[in-house]
Amino acid sequence: MSLDERCAQYRQYLEKYLRDFYEQFHDMPQKPLLDAMEYSLFAGGKRLRPIFCFEFCRMAGGQWEKAAPFAAAVEMIHTYSLIHDDLPAMDNDDLRRGRPTNHKVYGEGMAILAGDALLTDAFSVASFAQLDNPAQMGYAISVLAQCAGSLGMVGGQALDILSQDRTLSEQEVTDIQTRKTGALINAACVLGVIAAGGTEEQIQAAGMFAGALGLAFQIRDDMLDVIGSQEEMGKGIGTDAGKNTFVRLYGLEQCETLVKKYTRFAVSRLEAFDEPGFMTELAESLTDRRS
Ligand code: IPE
Ligand code: IPE
Ligand code: MG
Ligand code: MG
Ligand code: MG
Repeated sequence: MSLDERCAQYRQYLEKYLRDFYEQFHDMPQKPLLDAMEYSLFAGGKRLRPIFCFEFCRMAGGQWEKAAPFAAAVEMIHTYSLIHDDLPAMDNDDLRRGRPTNHKVYGEGMAILAGDALLTDAFSVASFAQLDNPAQMGYAISVLAQCAGSLGMVGGQALDILSQDRTLSEQEVTDIQTRKTGALINAACVLGVIAAGGTEEQIQAAGMFAGALGLAFQIRDDMLDVIGSQEEMGKGIGTDAGKNTFVRLYGLEQCETLVKKYTRFAVSRLEAFDEPGFMTELAESLTDRRS
């Protein structure tokens, strides 16, 4: 199976899983809230985090479908983070996933609630996971909560806001990006291994892969704010001016080298798995992504 075919298979499965989960809510009086949530959730993101989750499950020897509750949960949390990231009080952006941002269509109140609901529902969905060792469930939920919460993605977003008016050191920028972007990628990969009942060594390797890949991913995101196009990215370009991005710290050329360096390190951690070929190809394809 080619890289594209496998990604398409995972995306299709995720899409149906998410649609089925929200089907049960459709007759409720709070339907406008659901409309706002589905507007962003089904706007055609790349679904990379679910793809990582499914593939780490497969690489760790599990049946990849078993990772669906975790893959869906991570994508729901990621989508909520984007809705809130775009709000006027945060990045104040108008375009996301090729559409006007959530608050532009539904208003700020509903956008905040759509994010809140996606975050909370993510834990309902995650709790559907059928683990061979049910004692691992508490661990899985704590991974998800820690990666999403004040020490993870939200913590990174807070540091991002707090650092806006000063120039940061290399260490500080790396720490912010590791939390705001790396943490959810970490959850996706580690939860894939947990869904498979993988070994402690594989969990560690998935975490190290995700840490490095998350950095490469955010450096490329910062680069694309300068060299990307709005059509391909589906979001506004040039909106990072004045922010503490990797491009501001290192310049474009060095960023390109760093993306390759971190990706190489990430891929080297895949030795802990039997069939790392697909993940290697996917990680490498992200180094020069345009969207
Ligand atoms: C965008 O993430 C936000 C960052 C963490 C850089 P993605 O580039 O994965 O966005 P979607 O999910 O494809 O829209
Ligand atoms: C946001 O990083 C990461 C999140 C936690 C949402 P950015 O602010 O760079 O993401 P984009 O460029 O708006 O997608
Ligand atoms: Mg931001
Ligand atoms: Mg943003
Ligand atoms: Mg960005």
